[in-house]
Amino acid sequence: MTNFLSLADVADLDALIRSGIDAKANPFADQHLGKNKTIGLIFFNSSLRTRISTQKAAQNLGMNVITMNVGQDSWGLEMEDGVIMNSDKAEHVREAAAVIGRYCNIIGIRAFAELKDRAKDYQEQVMHQFARYAGVPIVNLESATRHPLQSLADCITIEEVKQSNPSLPAKPKVVLTWLPHFKPLPQAVANSFSEWMNARAKAGDVEFVVTHPEGYELAPEFVGNARVIYNQDEAFEGADFIYGKNWSSYTHYGQVLTQDPSWAVTMNDIRLSNHGKFMHCLPVRRNLKVSDEVLDSPHSLVIEQAANREWSAQAVLKEILLTL
Ligand code: CP
Repeated sequence: MTNFLSLADVADLDALIRSGIDAKANPFADQHLGKNKTIGLIFFNSSLRTRISTQKAAQNLGMNVITMNVGQDSWGLEMEDGVIMNSDKAEHVREAAAVIGRYCNIIGIRAFAELKDRAKDYQEQVMHQFARYAGVPIVNLESATRHPLQSLADCITIEEVKQSNPSLPAKPKVVLTWLPHFKPLPQAVANSFSEWMNARAKAGDVEFVVTHPEGYELAPEFVGNARVIYNQDEAFEGADFIYGKNWSSYTHYGQVLTQDPSWAVTMNDIRLSNHGKFMHCLPVRRNLKVSDEVLDSPHSLVIEQAANREWSAQAVLKEILLTL
């Protein structure tokens, strides 16, 4: 693996999931791989889980870690080529990426969608500019359209539940549901989860369903072959996993079309499912998107999912270190 920008960079998804599960069982087995190597974690946006779990994973592998918040710890970065740099962005990504690439063996980048210009967001300019100029492998810590480290942690979590629960069907039903929110949020987590679940469905490991109000259709390349059901109750029938996430509209780009509170997940929804487990990437707004009762019940997997972020990052960093 040279870069980890999306699922397309994964040669063997089953093996990567197994590697994450192995890392959890034996976190320090590969400490020699990262000795005297440095990872730079570059954040254009806030983070709790990604920042700490990736740092921990790198340290488990023996790496040194440098973390930087762009625009606070550093100069603002210009991404456009050929512009007159007379804005508040004092440094161009051409120099910044090249310089960080001299200090670091791997660079992780977080840069969310701005939700103003769909074509621009979906071009993934920040990831591609860093990949172009850094000269070292790039890891996506959540980009405008994807959050692959989260999706890998989600796959690990589902696999663990499958392995520890023999009563689950061999092909559990996984439902991605839109949740209400007053703020426009990016589609990255939902896109990525769909992309990875479609791959799991293609391999016969899950049945994958997406449910959302009209107007919240994800981009066709992410929906893939998922069954889309506009009636949430119908989608939840027999669900083994309910994955909640809010996203803003892709078609009416970046807009909040409804805040319908009936789309929030409550115990009534869990009762419609097959003793379904609730998943969410976090952070989550309690009682806006999902009830206290669900989050505080044994149905909730959210803490385990977040804990598995360490092992998803470790599996990915290990694979990259093996190529250096
Ligand atoms: N799930 C996730 O990426 O969390 P953070 O935004 O806190 O990193």
